Amino acid sequence: MGSISEGPARALINLQLGWPSPRLFAKEGLLKGAQEVLTSDKESAAALIYGPHAGHPPLRESIAEWLSSVYTSSQPTTKERICVTNGASGNLANVLLKFSDPIYTRKIFMVEPTYFLACPIFEDNGFQGRLRGVPEDDKEGLDLEFLRRELETAEAVATETAPTIKTGRTYPKVYKYFIYLVPTFSNPSGKTLSLSMRQDLVALARQYDALIVSDDVYDFLQWPEDSSAPHDSVSQVPPRLVDIDRAMPGYTKWGNTLSNGSFSKVIGPGVRVGWADCSPAMVLELAEVGSSSSGGQPAHLTSTFVDKMLRSGYMQEFISNTLIPAYRKRYYFLMKAINELLVPLGMKVEVNRPADATTATAGGFFTYLSLPEDLPAAKIVAAVAFQDYQLRVAFGHMFTVTGDHGSTSRAEEKGGFARCIRLCWAWHEEDEIQSGVQRLADVIIDIRGRMKRGEDIGSNVSIGIR
Ligand SMILES: Cc1ncc(COP(=O)(O)O)c(C=O)c1O
Repeated sequence: MGSISEGPARALINLQLGWPSPRLFAKEGLLKGAQEVLTSDKESAAALIYGPHAGHPPLRESIAEWLSSVYTSSQPTTKERICVTNGASGNLANVLLKFSDPIYTRKIFMVEPTYFLACPIFEDNGFQGRLRGVPEDDKEGLDLEFLRRELETAEAVATETAPTIKTGRTYPKVYKYFIYLVPTFSNPSGKTLSLSMRQDLVALARQYDALIVSDDVYDFLQWPEDSSAPHDSVSQVPPRLVDIDRAMPGYTKWGNTLSNGSFSKVIGPGVRVGWADCSPAMVLELAEVGSSSSGGQPAHLTSTFVDKMLRSGYMQEFISNTLIPAYRKRYYFLMKAINELLVPLGMKVEVNRPADATTATAGGFFTYLSLPEDLPAAKIVAAVAFQDYQLRVAFGHMFTVTGDHGSTSRAEEKGGFARCIRLCWAWHEEDEIQSGVQRLADVIIDIRGRMKRGEDIGSNVSIGIR
């Protein structure tokens, strides 16, 4: 079975992969930083020894300064609020080690469709069977009333009044609930939570002693949705949850939010450096997670290189002058191809427009499309695409919350996210993006033809969910 537009010998096009393309790795800046550190006896001695538990102090300072310049918040970020991490994934595990108790912490709520690779991190920490999906909505980005009801139900049946495992001086704060989400340019849905939803979510988290962990890993890559808008158009993305929490009256010593940041999308994932931006009390505890107490902050050497990249201004310039223009171009390219090739076939781009945003801002790595009702579920379309068209796309079933039957049911109900396909514009160059979208259009036309001929498509193809 071949594509209408291309010859038979074709390379795989992977619009599933959520990785930055190697051409866009910040190699030069990293090399410069490494050279500066490793050619200095003094700096290399400090960089190659065990690192301070909360991370390289100059990097804590340079991250704080950088974040204060990027996020317009009423209170600038200070170094006391920054704990250097080995990336958002590693830090999520550390946060759970320090601030959750596998019995006392009742439930983990994950906004669905969810970043599925977070599920095993929660499961590793003893939460198998207690992950619960919370649906997004099309306007404000989240079904908050659903979450409120789930919290009320969980409270009504809970019997534990205090932690039983994570006790004593090593664990001064254990949360009853965790809420995990990607509030800006979400992976996978591309959605952004409105300001009022963010405020309501923080208020709810405070009411139920929940810690909101937000993966804020795509925030630095944003541009106007409209391709004719000037480069420096004002962003309409609301403040981070952590900034809202800090600014709202009643902020406590520990806080109810942690911003999980990462250099993976702006330098390259192999750098394994990120940060937590949270209350100073939380930073002090996070720094003393057992493995950091023994081994020091886990990405110490590379932290020293990243610090040089921020202090020289390389990183800021690289983001503005290389990454944003490249991703912005690919995004417009992908959207144009979608509008020309997929929308006429009945596919719909699923974006939310928060009620409090006046100008649409696009960003991150992903766009999310829903299939028309006459087609089978996205996992079947993805299987045909891979098997017959050398095309990989991510499909709705991948993004259900592990172990939550409700999440799977919601995905599969009429109009549910099992009908959705996620496409990433970050991995491939523009010509491959165009070919990938063309192949997807060919897949849809092919499936429709097969259905017309009465073929049973689902039983001939399969694809792994995770
Ligand atoms: C939402 C989200 N969180 C975390 C990560 C991984 O971040 P890190 O490389 O910092 O562990 C990704 C990468 O795709 C992601 O999309």
